[in-house]
Amino acid sequence: MAKKKQNKAKSKVKAAAKKSARKVTKLASAKKGNGNGSHLPKASNKPWGKAGKALEGVKILDFTHVQSGPTCTQLLAWFGADVIKVERPGVGDITRGQLVDVKGADSLYFTMLNHNKRSITVDSKHPQGMRVLEALVKTCDVLVENFAPGALDRMGLTWERINKLNPRMIVASVKGFGPGPYEDCKVYENVAQCAGGAASTTGFREGPPLVTGAQIGDSGTGLHLALGIVSALFQRNRTGRGQKVLCAMQDGVLNLCRVKLRDQQRLKAGPLTEYSQYGENVPFGPTVPRAGNDSGGGQPGWILKCKGWETDPDAYIYFITQAPVWGPICDIIGEPTWKTDPEYATPRARLPKLKAIFRRIEDWTMTKTKFEVMEACNAVDIPVGPILSMKEIAEEPSLRKTGTVVEVDHPTRGKYLTVGNPIKLSDSISDVRRSPLLGEHTDEILKDVLKFSAKDIAEIKNSGALSAPKKEEKAA
Ligand code: COA
Repeated sequence: MAKKKQNKAKSKVKAAAKKSARKVTKLASAKKGNGNGSHLPKASNKPWGKAGKALEGVKILDFTHVQSGPTCTQLLAWFGADVIKVERPGVGDITRGQLVDVKGADSLYFTMLNHNKRSITVDSKHPQGMRVLEALVKTCDVLVENFAPGALDRMGLTWERINKLNPRMIVASVKGFGPGPYEDCKVYENVAQCAGGAASTTGFREGPPLVTGAQIGDSGTGLHLALGIVSALFQRNRTGRGQKVLCAMQDGVLNLCRVKLRDQQRLKAGPLTEYSQYGENVPFGPTVPRAGNDSGGGQPGWILKCKGWETDPDAYIYFITQAPVWGPICDIIGEPTWKTDPEYATPRARLPKLKAIFRRIEDWTMTKTKFEVMEACNAVDIPVGPILSMKEIAEEPSLRKTGTVVEVDHPTRGKYLTVGNPIKLSDSISDVRRSPLLGEHTDEILKDVLKFSAKDIAEIKNSGALSAPKKEEKAA
């Protein structure tokens, strides 16, 4: 009997020793990494695209609305994050009902900015709503918001409170302006384009400032914010703590207008010779002028008419007279003597005559469609860009093939086209799933993500925190 006990004790010690040896080996190998000096795990041998998505496991409390914030969280969702969109009961993101084209269905404005997300409705101003929000804060990795300045604090979700509830949480915000005189202002796309330097440098010299069709204020800032979030997640791996990430729309637009701040400083050294106003002998003032369709780089460019321009508003091509291909340009337009004529042979000699040169090139482009110009020029490495209409882009087979333009089916609106993830990762392939209906995932989030009991769920639901106020309450 005693021997039996002894043996048992011996095998227990052996097992413990084995276990601790295993632990040591594990630690040692973690320290050494995978043997190549790095601390990364061993390379997966799963087929490309089958090793999960880039941001798998990351949970986002998506408190965004309209365009800037939703652009950011949609990107994160495409990279595999679980994006839980919190919306106001009964109303949801205001864009659901803006620019409606199919009666009773979510607008394209909403659906095209909220793919691959889940939706939960929560009244943040209701105590039971705050209970749900606090549970989300404790569970999620990142809170993303683009409310007007102060709105999150007014809800009671200050940085201090969030940080106390979950020190690992990253709080990412889009605001119109950074700290300064305009920090309290509400801001939309075109306000940002104007305040960030885009409008003053866009358009023709003789005309007023212009905003651009590209949503550089909203979607541009959303993109910036996504990079900030991913960087903060990366840093958290080292520090173990979250941080605030702020992208002001003015800053985002200015970042995209960097070349114009470059030109502002170059003005001190003399006129901007690549701007066509230089060739036209129009003096420069104290600030960067609007440059029409001049190229932003050192290679002169302009938009030229192509065959059919009289009736087709997009029968144009962007033509760049890049210096290294000046010879082929002269040949293709039928001016071979310009290759050696000192009046045309060098970029410096051409600068004062750019307008006339582009007129001559246009005589040639007008004899061809924009696609024929594209083909002829690219064959000899002359950079040109056809002005593609949205209709042409929507119908372009190569964009469908790459998933940049995708057809999505939606239960209430039917099939529609959208822009898929423009960033392609070879081991994290994005699929585009339709946007959620308002509150579609409320139950599963309460149960599966937040692990509330059936009793708690009933209590929260009965409180009215997740549903639209009844009509009489609204009127009161
Ligand atoms: N439950 C209860 N209340 C909610 C809620 C919810 N789930 N979600 C939002 N709200 C409330 C907010 O608490 C806020 O209330 P308060 O002002 O009483 O504190 C209110 O909704 C409105 O939020 P706000 O952000 O001010 O919306 P808005 O429609 O008046 O302004 C913007 C819209 C876009 C101008 C503004 O949000 C903004 O400037 N955002 C930052 C810049 C930005 O992203 N602009 C581009 C948008 S594409």
